[in-house]
Amino acid sequence: MAVIEIVGAHKTYRRWRKPPERAVQGLDLTVEAGGVFGFLGPNGSGKTTTIRLLLGLVRPDSGSLHMLGRSVPAELPLVMGRVGALVETPLFFPNFTGRVNLALLARASNIPKARIDEMLELVDLQGRADDRVKGYSLGMKQRLGIAAALLKNPELLILDEPGNGLDAAGIREVRQLIKHLGTIGVTVLLSSHQLGEVQQVCDRVAIMSHGRVIASGSVSDLLATGTTGDVRVRLGDTSMGATVLRSAGFTVTALEGDDDGWRVGGVGDPALVTKALSEAGLYLRELSPIAADLESVFLDLTADGADGTAGETETTARSVVEQNPVGR
Ligand SMILES: Nc1ncnc2c1ncn2[C@@H]1O[C@H](COP(=O)(O)OP(=O)(O)O)[C@@H](O)[C@H]1O
Ligand SMILES: [Mg+2]
Repeated sequence: MAVIEIVGAHKTYRRWRKPPERAVQGLDLTVEAGGVFGFLGPNGSGKTTTIRLLLGLVRPDSGSLHMLGRSVPAELPLVMGRVGALVETPLFFPNFTGRVNLALLARASNIPKARIDEMLELVDLQGRADDRVKGYSLGMKQRLGIAAALLKNPELLILDEPGNGLDAAGIREVRQLIKHLGTIGVTVLLSSHQLGEVQQVCDRVAIMSHGRVIASGSVSDLLATGTTGDVRVRLGDTSMGATVLRSAGFTVTALEGDDDGWRVGGVGDPALVTKALSEAGLYLRELSPIAADLESVFLDLTADGADGTAGETETTARSVVEQNPVGR
């Protein structure tokens, strides 16, 4: 069963004295039940707007949206009890303890008190539950926010960039928690502009760009679309080898931080690389395929000007990497 089904959604924000902003334009998204689904895209690509549409915080201009089989926003009241969400850094009473904050929320929604301890344990805050929230780290506040969203035992948990503002340790804590949630029967929609945050917990992802989903599926399927067929070649006499390969029609680029390594593109059959070199009296020390990783697929798909020259694409890709370091 699909827990989220969006077809052809559009949302334009009208702005004062500025052209309207088309935040979501023709978005299709299907999220099947179970596990952690990564909702990935650069800043400004429309992730938060999509989530706000699902939660009834903004109205779509057109399109059909369903959550847990119900039409959104019309039938939202029928499903909100089964959906937990953490959209911005959650607001808690700073002078109350984590436990008291959860108790207030539980009482407002008629949730049994036992559930509070269960959730504190789940997010690994039992040891700090009786300290005031104002002394919590950002990561602890975020985990308390997740505990709050989980109080009502939702089938679907929507987390919008839960790693934002967290340091590496906080990100690791939240990531472990999300991974765990995916194994206990909650479907998690995890939005992020940080590939590293998503790649390590999700097996399915959708990639957003300019208000649309431009790719979605299992991580392995997306990787398959990204196989370039490029190979890494290592030679003794590097400059000579590069010249030989170029004149044989391959594209050759230096591998960064690798003195005698080259990336060779336009390779149909790696044997042709070996042949060209040996005919010139050069012998390989290494030839290995360069596997596409999710990062390069993501960057290829979301890079602006990806239709331009390779050089332009690379510049865009590199600047995105620098802004959004991955693999922490
Ligand atoms: N309330 C708003 N009014 C006007 N423009 C907005 C508003 N919220 C978001 N936008 C714009 O819509 C686009 C998509 O934003 P958003 O959905 O927040 O993307 P993301 O969450 O992927 O960063 C951006 O260009 C953003 O500036
Ligand atoms: Mg956002």
